[in-house]
Amino acid sequence: MVPQIRFLMCAPDHYNVDYVINPWMEGNIHKSSREHAVEQWNKLYNNIKNHAIVDLVAPEKGWPDMVFSANAGLVLGKNVVLSRFLHKERQGEEPYFQQWFEQNGYNVYNLPKDLPFEGAGDALLDREGRWLWAGYGFRSELDSHPYLAKWLDIEVISLRLMDERFYHLDTCFCPLSNGYLLYYPGAFDSYSNRVIEMRVVPEKRIPIAEADAVNFACNAVNVDSIVIMNKASESLKSRLAEVGFQVIETPLTEFLKAGGAAKCLTLRVTEPIAEEVHANVCVESRIIRMEGHLLDAGLINRALDLIVEMGGSFQVLKFNLGEQRQSTSAAEVRVSAPSHEVMEEIISQLIDLGAVDLPQDQRDSKLEPVVQAGIAPDDFYVSTIYPTQIRVNGEWLKVQNQRMDGAITISQTANGIVAKCKLLRDLEIGDRVVVDVLGIRTIRKAESREQRNSQEFGFMSSGVSSERRVELVVEQVAWELRKIKDRGGKVVVTAGPVVIHTGGGEHLSRLIREGYVQGLLGGNAIAVHDMEQNILGTSLGVDMKRGVVVRGGHRHHLKVINTVRRFGSIAKAVEAGVVKSGVMYECVKNNIPFSLAGSIRDDGPLPDTQMNLILAQQEYSQIIQGAEMILMLSSMLHSIGVGNMTPAGVKMVCVDINPAVVTKLSDRGSIESVGVVTDVGLFLSLLIQQLDKLTSPYVAKVA
Ligand code: ARG
Repeated sequence: MVPQIRFLMCAPDHYNVDYVINPWMEGNIHKSSREHAVEQWNKLYNNIKNHAIVDLVAPEKGWPDMVFSANAGLVLGKNVVLSRFLHKERQGEEPYFQQWFEQNGYNVYNLPKDLPFEGAGDALLDREGRWLWAGYGFRSELDSHPYLAKWLDIEVISLRLMDERFYHLDTCFCPLSNGYLLYYPGAFDSYSNRVIEMRVVPEKRIPIAEADAVNFACNAVNVDSIVIMNKASESLKSRLAEVGFQVIETPLTEFLKAGGAAKCLTLRVTEPIAEEVHANVCVESRIIRMEGHLLDAGLINRALDLIVEMGGSFQVLKFNLGEQRQSTSAAEVRVSAPSHEVMEEIISQLIDLGAVDLPQDQRDSKLEPVVQAGIAPDDFYVSTIYPTQIRVNGEWLKVQNQRMDGAITISQTANGIVAKCKLLRDLEIGDRVVVDVLGIRTIRKAESREQRNSQEFGFMSSGVSSERRVELVVEQVAWELRKIKDRGGKVVVTAGPVVIHTGGGEHLSRLIREGYVQGLLGGNAIAVHDMEQNILGTSLGVDMKRGVVVRGGHRHHLKVINTVRRFGSIAKAVEAGVVKSGVMYECVKNNIPFSLAGSIRDDGPLPDTQMNLILAQQEYSQIIQGAEMILMLSSMLHSIGVGNMTPAGVKMVCVDINPAVVTKLSDRGSIESVGVVTDVGLFLSLLIQQLDKLTSPYVAKVA
């Protein structure tokens, strides 16, 4: 018996399941037996008394969860951080616990109002006293952790809980003597698991299975080599025995109905201070500002959701609601993250949503030189499709060649400093690359509600049936194509061979012939099958008129490839009169630039197919230069390739029979992109019909 160890408990006189504030309580209201609860609690009490001293706090009527004294507060030495319960159902316990602490000579710290923290339920000392593990995600707020560090002068390691069954850290995590750790990895996000693995060597980790976890095996009281818990599997008991721990099982099923067990029912009130340990928090905070149609455009929800999804936490410091329909709102939000690494991930996404620093917090971008050609510094900021500015010497510079998935580089030119998006492979030694997430902002146009609703693509969010939706998209696309053509703008098409197989070839040919298309992007296949159809009447061996497989037809496309190869290029085959109609024919005849990007499965290839993919990417990006609209027709590969190199502001229409492709591509915000799940041949035929209806030339309202 080690007399100096003391625990605080609270008898279950008023214990009951009266409400539901965790999943265990569901279906258990008034289902626990007081008699059994008392019996189980007494057994636990006696077990602990064999190994330590137990103090008691008087139970209070009306506060049925007060038995769970672990939630009274967090003790270290003579200091206590009192709990601030998240749920009003438990807030009434606070003064009673406070009183007990004060009467017993503790120095009580009170957290700011509205900053929940549930005591030792969510904060567990390493048993060697080296640091404090603190949980967040359900009951305790991440922002409470810096207070714990400051008041208790200890390093705090924040762990994020992900499974609502394990809503308190002590339900899934139990530091044991000698640096061992009993825990259920499934309760944590992957970042927290990494943090745990970095702190605790593999030999000292005892991960448990879900079956033990749901029996609250982690909710254990450890005194030296004794581990007291509700229940443990044989394998867990022997695993613990191997490393010198003896498990004492004491059934606590009545308390499981409220979501607690051994550890929850106790609070260790003697926690020695390790002299050499001092405050340290990894939690970082940063204030960001957002402006625009924050509510209308759903920007603020997206921002707040993503902060939480990524493991951070927020506090809205200011929100000036734009009162008129046309007025914008402004918000200031304090973002907290468990580490700099997580903060960077959160901020880089908030930047995409238009978040900026407060004026007084603005900093220059952080730059690091490229030391190996084609390789960016580790921490490089990954560019997006949105117009971006970076801050250099106190001035905001616009980034050129905006595209996604690049690095932003700075170079000194005769005309001053220039910022540019570069692909990793194009980085040169000495280029300076923007790293971290300081001094970067994106410019989001604040579309008003009117603009958004009148926008051609604005109807997309409304709940129209899919058939009507296809018709609507076709009408809008036709209208848009017509407008662009009349003002001499640029439309680029990416197309896969399905366009030909579904009979869309003649329609696409017509679009090209009539001047609706200014560039064509695809692979070897579209060109092969287009020419196969026009030379031999089949597409991959299928007779396009009758829809039947032609005997020996599967070799047709190779004959075509062979023929074109003999002439040296598609253009030459057209000139020679071998190819007399079709998509490729129209491109050649109308001087429409095209680029065919090769792939591993290409037959031939055609002489025009660019098998050097780096060059193919360059050709593609040249062709889309200045495009106002990109029609993506049934080619996941080429469409995604194009999507990656297209800056925001270019309209994209993605047509595919596979909803997954459409979703992936139209993920850029509804104003910019539209997805249509339909047969591409059908789509093109409807589009042609619709264009025919727009007979009188479109006259722009605003000249
Ligand atoms: N019904 C209580 C609640 O949901 C159970 C508390 C369990 N305590 C603990 N330290 N895990 O708050």
